[in-house]
Amino acid sequence: MKIAEGIHWVGAVDWNIRSFHGNTFSTRLGTSYNSYLLLDEKNAIIDGVYGPFASEQIERINTLIPLEKIDYIIANHGENDHSGSLPALTKLCPNAKIFGTAKCKESLERLYPQSWNFHTVKTGDTLSLGKKSLSFIEAPMLHWPDSMFTWLPELSIFFPNDAFGQHIASSQRFVDECDIASVMHEAKKYYANILWPLSGLVIKKIEALLSMNLDIHMIAPSHGLIWRNNPETILSSYLSWAKNETKNKAVIVYETMWGATTKMAHAILEGLVHQGVEASLHDIALSDMTDIITEMLDAKVFFIGSSTHGNEMLPTIAAFLHLLTGMKPKNRLGAAFGSYGWGGGAVKRIKETLETHGIKLPYDSIESQFSPSQEILEACRSLGQQVGKNHISTS
Ligand code: FEO
Repeated sequence: MKIAEGIHWVGAVDWNIRSFHGNTFSTRLGTSYNSYLLLDEKNAIIDGVYGPFASEQIERINTLIPLEKIDYIIANHGENDHSGSLPALTKLCPNAKIFGTAKCKESLERLYPQSWNFHTVKTGDTLSLGKKSLSFIEAPMLHWPDSMFTWLPELSIFFPNDAFGQHIASSQRFVDECDIASVMHEAKKYYANILWPLSGLVIKKIEALLSMNLDIHMIAPSHGLIWRNNPETILSSYLSWAKNETKNKAVIVYETMWGATTKMAHAILEGLVHQGVEASLHDIALSDMTDIITEMLDAKVFFIGSSTHGNEMLPTIAAFLHLLTGMKPKNRLGAAFGSYGWGGGAVKRIKETLETHGIKLPYDSIESQFSPSQEILEACRSLGQQVGKNHISTS
């Protein structure tokens, strides 16, 4: 698949993967491991693919050029999904020198103990291919210490590896060939679940890129679809997400034992809806955590609820709260609610956890012994309404 003059996509589409990074990321739409072949006086490959797809990448390259004619392999990132094919590829490309950061060299040596013909690069280093050239930009912690971006100035193509990617398997290669809303949702899901905790670094890196005046025409990530025509859309979305900019919406997440906490969650939702604000409700035991984290990326208020079990939150909401606070959300409001039978504890623990992680709780928590009375349900409705009116509603 030719994506520009002398540039071919030689990656692999993983149609059936349903969870990524262990089970930390649901990939209902599959994914792709993008790799690019650059043909010139010197020939280069940008990034490998996940190991089980190595033969697919190798066959694709082979249809365009004999492997022994590959001069350079650019390893933007050493994680398995982009480096898995490199041991096989380097055996078949005996003349190829690998280019990457010092940390990338370290990750490859640890993942695949073998002798690597590795050339370490830093920001500003360049590599001539003939008519085209490559320029390297270190991007530490976006999202691994070894991460690097590669810039092709003659064609204005930016190869950022994981950044700006989406877990989408598709027969298409370009964003503009697909439903843009769906691609943006997957890009947001990717950002929320991988880059949200690293937002401070994302802001600095994007501002540094903007100050370089690169005039990017195409962003070719290593997962999903390629941004062309209007790459500013994804750049500005990344900046907005990194700045923790929120929309006027609330997300309610809870776990229940016998349904009392569910009734409270619905009463809070009624209050929010009555106030005309956008809100969603999720029983965490029945939900996909990756999707809820995505929804929370730009939500202003989080309502977290749980029944009490052994003076603690129920285990699934506890795990979710651990995941959420690990995302280091900024500038958010929260509220805790829940129920108990004979001894409470869950609501107090939710409140403590949210406050410890910098989420402000301006309203009293609501707790119900056994099934919530009409008074408690009214207090829940009132909480939703007050939060909606004072912090979310635009009218
Ligand atoms: Fe950090 Fe797509 O691997």
